[in-house]
Amino acid sequence: TSVESFYEQVGGEATFRFIVARFYEEVAKDELLRPLYPEEDLGPAEERLRLFLMQYWGGPTTYSERRGHPRLRMRHAPFKIGPAERDAWLRCMEVAVDEARLKPEHRDQLWRYLEMAANSMINSWF
Ligand code: HEM
Repeated sequence: TSVESFYEQVGGEATFRFIVARFYEEVAKDELLRPLYPEEDLGPAEERLRLFLMQYWGGPTTYSERRGHPRLRMRHAPFKIGPAERDAWLRCMEVAVDEARLKPEHRDQLWRYLEMAANSMINSWF
């Protein structure tokens, strides 16, 4: 179609690769978040988040081809995610999104979604 997806408008796979790689660099240093990740190697988790976000924003559907329906709240149920974990996740993501230097309207649209999604992942209030 002649209407570019958000995915294409922000620069396609390279942009998502940058943001998610930068995000996991921050996660690796975060004392609250790092212990939540079951695997020593964060590489596979990085790839899953990258493919999910690419699909969400109109890019290739590789995520669902490999993982099926996202059902993100269910997939996060094994991990205790309270307000502190949400804040830590958003702090790591803010570093990454800011460094990607998107146009302000793209940055704002992406950020609104990430805040909403992070809030919806809370499954523990203590
Ligand atoms: C997986 C933590 C929010 C998307 C995971 C995993 C952890 C985690 C520990 C398992 C790692 C793995 O894949 O092996 C958190 C925490 C959050 C959060 C603490 C704080 C609010 C989000 C948000 C999104 C997201 C907001 C989407 C916008 C994903 C995806 C996976 C995942 C796509 C892989 C699911 C799969 O296919 O198995 N997350 N997450 N997460 N997370 Fe999160």
